[in-house]
Amino acid sequence: MIKAKDVLTLDELDKKEISQIIELAINLKKELKKDTMKPLLKNKTLAMIFQKPSTRTRISFETGMFQLGGHAINLSAQDLQISRGETIQDTAKTLSRYVDVVMARVYDHATLESLAQNASIPIINGLSNSYHPCQILADLMTVKEKKGKLDGLHLAWIGDGNNVCNSMMIGCSKVGISMSIATPKEFAPDSALVRQCKKNISIDLVQEPKIAAKGADIIVTDTFVSIHDDPKRIKKFLPKFQVNSKLMSSAKDSCIFMHCLPAKRNQEVTSDVIDGPQSVIWDEAENRLHSQKALLASLRI
Ligand code: CP
Ligand code: NVA
Repeated sequence: MIKAKDVLTLDELDKKEISQIIELAINLKKELKKDTMKPLLKNKTLAMIFQKPSTRTRISFETGMFQLGGHAINLSAQDLQISRGETIQDTAKTLSRYVDVVMARVYDHATLESLAQNASIPIINGLSNSYHPCQILADLMTVKEKKGKLDGLHLAWIGDGNNVCNSMMIGCSKVGISMSIATPKEFAPDSALVRQCKKNISIDLVQEPKIAAKGADIIVTDTFVSIHDDPKRIKKFLPKFQVNSKLMSSAKDSCIFMHCLPAKRNQEVTSDVIDGPQSVIWDEAENRLHSQKALLASLRI
């Protein structure tokens, strides 16, 4: 069991808890393949609230609850009375009387904080404009599977210092992965968060992708235009911040390529890299299922 009630940024979990979730996730993955799953969440219900679209998050959470013997309810924000002005506070209190856990994908991170403050049940962030903790649990699980360890590796983040990058910094700082982050100056990650994470790991902020990629064990990118962003910003990234085979060649030969998906092929990453031998994106996507099941089973529900 983890100590925190909610998981909104990933900072709620310590190194030991993250390692335990990853270990459980790896076991749950094996059990699923052997068809020896235990109903760890029998008769438990997850409510999923989506203010934004989703493929992986929605399907992996719903499937995960089913595989653990529980049930999930999918709610677009339009389906709820929130769309007619009912407050987040009243919604949180109401949901707490029906379901055991809530996962919400929202625009403003403060919406999640308000849900968490007012609900007596755990709240999981399924992506906000500021953080994406579930993605990073899957990413760290994938790195553990591919590299056999986490501590001591070096990860290069290329592109936008966005919500996924923020949670990646938190995750890496917890498990001891050092980082280089290459972004256009105006799209660097949150400086207060960088300072906080730098207490545990080295983080180099640069504007040259090649410098960030040098000697990396892992190269990660994400879309240059997140769901909440103005599409015009793309001009600031292309062509310099694209992950292509030339950039990959600056990293170690054993470097893996990761992307949370959805990808805009031939924008942030070329097709030859995302489909190439160093790419682990499909394992990464699959691991959303296993790592979220492990997270759900580790919450106090
Ligand atoms: N990576 C991720 O969160 O994907 P979806 O937006 O499809 O859920
Ligand atoms: N940064 C992206 C991640 C999508 C999973 C977004 O917020 O749209």
